[in-house]
Amino acid sequence: MAVTILAIESSCDDTSVAIIRDGYVLSNLIANQDIHMAYGGVVPELASRAHQANIVPVTHQAMIKADVKAEDIDAVAFTRGPGLLGSLLVGTSFAKGFALAQNIPLIEVNHLQAHVMAHFILEKDKNNRLPSFPFLCLLVSGGHTRIIIMKSHLEMEVIGNTIDDAAGEAFDKCGKVMGFTYPAGPLIDKLAGTGNKNAFRFAKPHVKGLDFSFSGLKTSFLYFLRDSLKEDPDFIEHNKADLCASLQHTIISILISKVITASLQTGIKEIGIAGGVSANSGLRNEMKTEAEKRKWNLFIPAFSLTTDNAAMIGITAYYKYQRGQFAGHDIAPLARY
Ligand code: KG4
Ligand code: ZN
Repeated sequence: MAVTILAIESSCDDTSVAIIRDGYVLSNLIANQDIHMAYGGVVPELASRAHQANIVPVTHQAMIKADVKAEDIDAVAFTRGPGLLGSLLVGTSFAKGFALAQNIPLIEVNHLQAHVMAHFILEKDKNNRLPSFPFLCLLVSGGHTRIIIMKSHLEMEVIGNTIDDAAGEAFDKCGKVMGFTYPAGPLIDKLAGTGNKNAFRFAKPHVKGLDFSFSGLKTSFLYFLRDSLKEDPDFIEHNKADLCASLQHTIISILISKVITASLQTGIKEIGIAGGVSANSGLRNEMKTEAEKRKWNLFIPAFSLTTDNAAMIGITAYYKYQRGQFAGHDIAPLARY
């Protein structure tokens, strides 16, 4: 019998609801919160209020789009963490209420695992090439930078982690210094397209093993701009594209060098990228070049599945459903999972 799952994602500033049937996405809607742009980052209290306003209409629309009624749903999945506690609470409470009203099971999902599991989402009329295990995935988002080995759909091992900022934070914080609104990653990506990636050089960290560090780069970028602005007050305006291209290139080379090391150390050539920063065109292209050179079987997610979305929560829940991994109603969200 078909298994239909309603999935809720509310860990940060996007309210997303998806309907997944037997691993296929029937709908995956996202309500973005533009309110944070003016503040240069996500304001937790505003985020949870916006989730409260959005969650019912987004769920309603997701059900209409999927042509699914409440009675057709077999389980409700939600992001338990990591994320902003107030935001997570909205999704968790809504999921509990829905599950209770329909008398169906509740499934909790780890947001980070879900980003990697986005590679297992099936889409109608697509060729749906899926990774095999072990699968090595670089997870790069606004809050996390990790190298993860998936041993099976539900078993993951973190083999590398950032010791300070995440890659997305490096994009966002350096963008803020250049006067860009939050999140700055997409604009930097766009401007980098017309810039020279070798125009400027910024400090690269020396972190042992498979861990990452981005706070030094942020400082190096800040000091470089401070000095340059003394000589030319319009330095940023005059060099925007080159600054973006050079910064992006530095971030990408830090990321890719660790993926290469991880692949060599583990012998895994089944490789993917996931998370918001995996939408970056430079990262996608350079990963493709590296994959050809090193004979990797590379997996790059569709743009719609890179940033936070509920389809990735739904696909993870689908595998948990098959194993009967349900949550009790006393479950609480976890800011740090
Ligand atoms: O996965 P995500 O939507 O949320 C978190 O779980 O953090 O990632 C958001 C991050 C932001 O830092 C944003 O600037 C970055 O992803 N991002 C990008 C691009 N699109 C989104 N960074 C670089 N290039 C992009 N095209
Ligand atoms: Zn995320």
